[in-house]
Amino acid sequence: MSDKNIPLFRLHDLRYAYGSQPALEISSLDLEEGQIHAVAGPNGSGKTTVLKLLNGLLEPTGGEILFRGEPINRRGYACIRGESVLVHQDPYLFDGTVAQNLAFGLKIRKLSSRLIQRRIEQKLSLVGLPGFEHRRSRALSGGEKQRVAIARALALEPGILFLDEPTANVDTASIELLERLILRLADAGTTSGLCLPAGDPSGVPGRGSCRTRAREYIQGCS
Ligand SMILES: Nc1ncnc2c1ncn2[C@@H]1O[C@H](COP(=O)(O)OP(=O)(O)OP(=O)(O)O)[C@@H](O)[C@H]1O
Ligand SMILES: [Mg+2]
Repeated sequence: MSDKNIPLFRLHDLRYAYGSQPALEISSLDLEEGQIHAVAGPNGSGKTTVLKLLNGLLEPTGGEILFRGEPINRRGYACIRGESVLVHQDPYLFDGTVAQNLAFGLKIRKLSSRLIQRRIEQKLSLVGLPGFEHRRSRALSGGEKQRVAIARALALEPGILFLDEPTANVDTASIELLERLILRLADAGTTSGLCLPAGDPSGVPGRGSCRTRAREYIQGCS
């Protein structure tokens, strides 16, 4: 059961360096459960790094991250990876059909074929790509690939969804669709925490419904 007073993530004196090169420093930050959080900053300011730290793909080189009140390193990094999905800035789809890409993680979780098929149809519709099941991933446009990667993440129905520049290659109509979708997920409580790095920091407050709804706006991480 989640305690409403405990933030989903609490970052304390968090630092990360790639070798001897410091990439990120956040003195203190709470990310609340059930909220949309946006991370904004110029290129190289550490947006992707902070998402990888929150997702447990990277371990902090200094300070700590509390996940539901407990240090991530004590709970184990696998624990956070089990509850969350990170859609990478440049998502990888393996060669094969869109359906195969979406089904992969669901088969590992041993879902029935009927449920897998239903989830694939449902999530492709949500990202505005109904009927794309049999399209080859190699033959998709950049924006379509990005939306398939988001559908693949949604198919896992994670508690926490991290999206790294999800609308970078996506056209205006699809940006609106994705933003409405993210708001719906947060409102329905199906996803407890969302991070939406926006490449253009000047555009974060006031442009696009998701960004205006972002409760936490981490300006310039470095
Ligand atoms: N694997 C790596 N090895 C060494 N340095 C890295 C590595 N990944 C990122 N960096 C450096 O860390 C800093 C932060 O990078 P990061 O990718 O987190 O920035 P970002 O805010 O996501 O940038 P962008 O807007 O371009 O996506 C940059 O200076 C970058 O060059
Ligand atoms: Mg990045």
